[in-house]
Amino acid sequence: MNDTAFRDALGHFATGVTIVTSSSKGGRVGLTANSFNSVSLDPPLVLWSLSKTSNCLATISASGYFAVHILAYDQIELSKSFAKKSTQKFDGLACEEGVGGSPLISGCSAVFQCKVLTQYEGGDHIIFVGEVLEYEGSDKAPLLFHKGKFHSGEVLQIPDSPKVDSIANQVGFTEDFFPYLMARAHFQLNEPIKDVVKSSGIDEDDYFIILLLSIGEGRTIQNISRCLEHTNHHPTNEKIAEMHERGLITIKNGKGGDRIYLSRDGAQITEKLLAASKEVEQKLRSHFVSNEVDSLKSILKKVILRTDPGIPNLWDVED
Ligand SMILES: Cc1cc2nc3c(=O)[nH]c(=O)nc-3n(C[C@H](O)[C@H](O)[C@H](O)COP(=O)(O)O)c2cc1C
Repeated sequence: MNDTAFRDALGHFATGVTIVTSSSKGGRVGLTANSFNSVSLDPPLVLWSLSKTSNCLATISASGYFAVHILAYDQIELSKSFAKKSTQKFDGLACEEGVGGSPLISGCSAVFQCKVLTQYEGGDHIIFVGEVLEYEGSDKAPLLFHKGKFHSGEVLQIPDSPKVDSIANQVGFTEDFFPYLMARAHFQLNEPIKDVVKSSGIDEDDYFIILLLSIGEGRTIQNISRCLEHTNHHPTNEKIAEMHERGLITIKNGKGGDRIYLSRDGAQITEKLLAASKEVEQKLRSHFVSNEVDSLKSILKKVILRTDPGIPNLWDVED
């Protein structure tokens, strides 16, 4: 059998991620495992399988006890460190001592403390069936594993939209409605940026013009007008003159008439806006795992592509 193809086919089965720990005279051991499953409710039994090459095997067999930690969405680093062959997995990790001396890791979605009931031969693995002596669950969303990649189960925690019998509901304007989700995400993401706009003493018209100039300078008023048409923020001659007077922009005579540039003050505001945007992105990224950010960005690009009413190329400053 082709090992890689078999492994890949098994990878289609999405699982949670656990760390199984145990301890004996030889010390504490632990490893990342996703072979965990429930077996029986009465009596309460669980199982998982351990590679015969694992450094944990001797300890778990000698101890007769193990603790299964269902990892939470924010424990990805822990799961990576327990998936390595290392004797330092517990360094810097504060653990309590559980039943049979098994180390207990905090911050998990759930923990099952078990006594080994049976050990079966299973090819190159040993199947452990454990009787659950104690367990603890929390509200923390789980870490998930699918096709060799980690995923955050945080999205599973977003409550279903209430079924409200209102006109909005009849026309489909519920919390699961795509335009609602996009608009709300936009609204919430923009809050810190709005704060910068406010503290910089500019209004929304200034903001859109400054933002466009930060993409490309030396624009005519016609170019700005064309590029901002979809935003409903139209730059009038008075607006441009007023921004000039307030020192936000400079105007130079060039090809085809007056061309508009950012002043030093205007450029400083764009730097603050950029810093705030980067911070928003950074904060949001910390809630995603592995390829989720890339997936989200390509989905958003697809939405933009499929809904584009013909917004001009904002990088084109010529008119
Ligand atoms: C998501 C994931 C799931 C895993 N599941 C298992 C498993 O169920 N059983 C197993 O023996 N190893 C599993 N491993 C591999 C072990 O974590 C890895 O081989 C580790 O180095 C074992 O360490 P040890 O030799 O110190 O026990 C898994 C690894 C990952 C990343």
